[in-house]
Amino acid sequence: MDKKAFEERLARETEELEQIIYSFLPREEGPQKKVIEAMNYSVQAGGKRLRPMLMRETFRMCGGEGDALAPFLAAIEMIHTYSLVHDDLPAMDNDQYRRGRRTTWYVYGDAFGILAGDGLLNLAFETALQAFGRTADPGRTARAMSVLAAKAGIHGMIGGQTADILAEDAREPLTRQQLLFIHENKTAALIQAAMTIGAILAGAGEEQVAALEKCAYNIGIAFQIQDDVLDVTGNMEELGKPIGSDVASGKQTYVTLEGLERAKEDVEKLSGEAVRILDGFPGQHDFLGELILMLIHRSK
Ligand code: IPE
Ligand code: IPE
Ligand code: MG
Ligand code: MG
Ligand code: MG
Repeated sequence: MDKKAFEERLARETEELEQIIYSFLPREEGPQKKVIEAMNYSVQAGGKRLRPMLMRETFRMCGGEGDALAPFLAAIEMIHTYSLVHDDLPAMDNDQYRRGRRTTWYVYGDAFGILAGDGLLNLAFETALQAFGRTADPGRTARAMSVLAAKAGIHGMIGGQTADILAEDAREPLTRQQLLFIHENKTAALIQAAMTIGAILAGAGEEQVAALEKCAYNIGIAFQIQDDVLDVTGNMEELGKPIGSDVASGKQTYVTLEGLERAKEDVEKLSGEAVRILDGFPGQHDFLGELILMLIHRSK
C-alpha cells in the first residue's frame, strides 16, 4: 500500500468512524443538558479514533459480518474519551488542553468534568448493549461485553491509572516491571479490548483471539512509549495537548527510565512484533499493518 493510498484510506476510515460514533451520542436537552453538552464536547473534539479503527480492522480481517459491531465501535471510544476527561482533571494530570481544545473540566468546571466522564462510561455500556438487538449470536455479544467491562476496570485501565497516580509519590525509581504494569493496564488494556472484541464479534477461534491479545499488548506498550516520547519531543500545536506534562506532574515514564533512544528503538521493535503476529492471519490486513507502522513515527 503506497503512502498516498494509506493516507486517503486513513482519512476516509476516520470520517466514517466519527459518523458512527456521533450517531450514538445523546441529544442535548432536558435538565441534564449541561452534562450531555460536556460529554459531546469531549467526544466531538476529534482524536485519532484509533481504538474503533483497530476494532473494525480486526473484525474485517477475521471475516466479520453484520451490524453488531457498530455499537461497540462507539462504546470503546466513549470509554477512551471518559478516561481522558478524568485523566486531565486537576486531581489527576491537571492538563488544560486536549485534542487541540481546552479540556472538559477547564470549560465546564471540575464537577462537570467528573460527571461527563461518568456519563460517558455509563453511556458506553448502554450503547454496547444495543448490539443484542442487532445480532443472531447473543453469545458473542455477551462475551464482547464482558471483555469491554474487564479491560476498562480495576484489572485494566482503571488499575493502570491507579498505579500511575501512586507512582507520582514514589521515592525510588520505578522498576521496569512496575512501569510496564502501568503501560499495560492504563493503555494496552483498551487496545486489547478493541482488537479482541473485533475478533470475538467476527467469530474468530480461541487461538486467534489469544494471538490478537498479544498483538494488541505490543501495540499498546509501543503506543504509550511513543506517547511518553512525544511528551518530551512533541509539538503542542500538532499534538493538541501540552508538552512536558509528565515532568510537571513528577511522572516517571519510559523516557525517564530508559532514555529517548532506547524508547524509540523499543517502539519500533514492539510494533514489528505486532505486525509479525498479524502476518500469521490469512485475512486481509494491509491497512491494519500499515497503521501499526505509521504509529511508530506519529507526531500526534
Ligand atoms: C491518549 O490516547 C492517551 C493514551 C493512552 C496515550 P490517544 O493518543 O489515542 O488520544 P486521542 O484519542 O487521539 O485524542
Ligand atoms: C493516559 O496516559 C492513559 C489513560 C488511560 C487516559 P497519559 O496521562 O500519558 O495520557 P495523556 O498524555 O494525558 O494523553
Ligand atoms: Mg495520565
Ligand atoms: Mg495525562
Ligand atoms: Mg502522556
